[in-house]
Amino acid sequence: GAHVLSVSQFERSDVERIFEVADSMRPYAHRERMTKVLDGAIMGNMFFEPSTRTRVSFGCAFNLLGGEVRETTDIKASSLTKGESLYDTGRVMSGYSDIIVMRHPQAGSVAEFAKASRVPVLNAGDGPNEHPSQALLDLYTIKKELKSRQQNIDGMHIAMIGDLKHGRTVHSLSRLVSLYSKVKFTLISPRELAMPEAIVEDLRTRGHQVVETEDMESGLISNDIVYLTRIQEERFASKPEADLYRGRFRLNQSIYTQYCQPNTVIMHPLPRDSREEANELDNDLNQHPSLAIFRQTDNGVLVRMALFALTLDVCEQVDKSSREVNW
Ligand code: CP
Repeated sequence: GAHVLSVSQFERSDVERIFEVADSMRPYAHRERMTKVLDGAIMGNMFFEPSTRTRVSFGCAFNLLGGEVRETTDIKASSLTKGESLYDTGRVMSGYSDIIVMRHPQAGSVAEFAKASRVPVLNAGDGPNEHPSQALLDLYTIKKELKSRQQNIDGMHIAMIGDLKHGRTVHSLSRLVSLYSKVKFTLISPRELAMPEAIVEDLRTRGHQVVETEDMESGLISNDIVYLTRIQEERFASKPEADLYRGRFRLNQSIYTQYCQPNTVIMHPLPRDSREEANELDNDLNQHPSLAIFRQTDNGVLVRMALFALTLDVCEQVDKSSREVNW
């Protein structure tokens, strides 16, 4: 039971193993088979920042494996507000759970919590730093989408667009993709919201091509994947500062048709900001066959089931403890 704190802890073979286990979870997520492999286990789902899909899909994934979920969703209702440290909180909560999933607004907070924890801790987002399970489900989706086009992750062209400074999903995803070979990254953002230099440097060191630009139109040309992100208002000092950047980079049907090569996969970690002043990914693309955003969210359950099964070392027992379901 190791923690999952950063994608930097993975080798390419680990990623492939997670994807293989995620594939094997498909019958259980679709209720063709049922397993109680985690019967009696308790997952502490601790979310100190808003979340829809990460919190619920981690919870569903644990339930689908037969375990129970205890939710902590309000930082104001916890004793952290009385000055208790993350370290003490980690030691205490790990006495009540078999595994903990945690999101918190500070970079490094989940690692600090994990230091004291006696059970595995999965990072569900630590401020602007990392979001490892999102990167895994994103790359799993990329692999599937490219496979249906007879393409591979090696050699792909991916554009990442928007708030690359604060977007933890693009930080984790680019680090994860860097384990593959000869990828071309086109990083499209306002200069002030560029990808952290350390990440760009690392991509180049590993032999990938990186182009950074503020020009979305030229950046959109000739990609296999375009990955949009929201302006992360919660990471700015004030709303007016975030307003400066909102709405600068938008994708809609007309821009897609004009600049993207046909079949370019459209991704977004979600939530997309659908307010008129932002609207980075327009609803007029909702029926587009290359829009993969809801395949990403569906795949999130499989990947999170795989993380639980691997971390709690029950992969071998899943099939043995399963039965067919006839609804
Ligand atoms: N992608 C993602 O992390 O979404 P939530 O914030 O809704 O969990």
